[in-house]
Amino acid sequence: MILTAQLHEFMNSRHLEIFLDIATEAALSAGAILQQYWGNLQEIREKGRPGDLVTEADKAAEDAVLAVLKRHVPDHPILAEESGQMGDRQSEFLWAIDPLDGTTNYAHQYPFVAVSVGLLIEGVPQVGVVYNPIHQELFRAAKGLGATQNRKPIQVSQTQELDRSLLVTGFAYDRRQTSDTNYAEFCHLTHLTQGVRRDGAAALDLAYVACGRLDGYWERGLSMWDMAAGVVLVEEAGGLVTAYDQSPVQLETGRILATNGKIHQQLSHELSQVKPI
Ligand code: IPD
Ligand code: CA
Ligand code: CA
Repeated sequence: MILTAQLHEFMNSRHLEIFLDIATEAALSAGAILQQYWGNLQEIREKGRPGDLVTEADKAAEDAVLAVLKRHVPDHPILAEESGQMGDRQSEFLWAIDPLDGTTNYAHQYPFVAVSVGLLIEGVPQVGVVYNPIHQELFRAAKGLGATQNRKPIQVSQTQELDRSLLVTGFAYDRRQTSDTNYAEFCHLTHLTQGVRRDGAAALDLAYVACGRLDGYWERGLSMWDMAAGVVLVEEAGGLVTAYDQSPVQLETGRILATNGKIHQQLSHELSQVKPI
C-alpha cells in the first residue's frame, strides 16, 4: 500500500491506524531477525565509544524495518540508528528507528531488548511500536488511540509517592568522557524510592512505564530513536513526558522525564536537587 499525497493532507485517526499497522509490521519483521540471531552472533564490535556495541543483528534488523517502510511509505524520511538520516528533511514525517535497543543486553543474552519504531509528524511523536522479540511483548500506541500491550489496553501505575515508586534510568556511552554521568542522580533517587533499575534498553524502559511495571524513568544522552516510540506509549497510557524541569520535552536534547504523572513533580524536584559527585 502506498499512501498518496492527498492522504497525507487529511491526517486523522484512520491514517494514524494505518501508520501504526506499518510500524507494527516493521517491528515484527525486525523482531523475527533478532529471534534468529539470538545466541548466534558472529560479529560484536565497538562503534567508537567504549561499550557502544554493534552486531550483525542490529544491521539485519534495521534492513528489515527499512524494507517495510520503503514498501509502504517510500516518500517518508527515516532516521535510523545504523544508517543515519535518509530522505527529504522538509517532510512533515520522520520515522525514528532503533532496530535493536539494548545491544549490550542482546550480546550477553540478557533478554531485555527491543525494536523501536516511532513516527513523528510535524516534530511530534504520534505513533510508537516497541517490540521485545524474546519475551514476545508488543507495545503499540498512536496519538488519541490509546496504548496496548499484546493488543490489550494498558495504563500507567497509580503510585502517588516517590518513596513507594520503582524507577528506571540508564547511563549513556559517553560516561567515561563526561562528568555529566547520571551517577549522582542514580544515588540520590535510589535513596528516596523503593529502587532504581538500570535495565539497558530505553525504549523498553518507556514501555514499562506505560504498562505500569515502573512508575518513572529519566535519562540523559539519548537519541531520537531511543525515545520517539516510547514517548507515545507513555502519553497514550495516561502518563506524562517532559524535560527534567517539566518544560515540554525536546528530543534533540537527549534528556527525558517520563512518569505515571502522579510522581512527576516530585521526581522533577528531586532531579533539580542533585549535587554533582
Ligand atoms: C542504549 C540503551 C540504553 C541507554 C543508552 C542507549 P542501544 O541503546 O537504550 O538503555 O542507556 O543510552 O544508547 O545502544 O542499546 O541501542
Ligand atoms: Ca538505543
Ligand atoms: Ca540500537
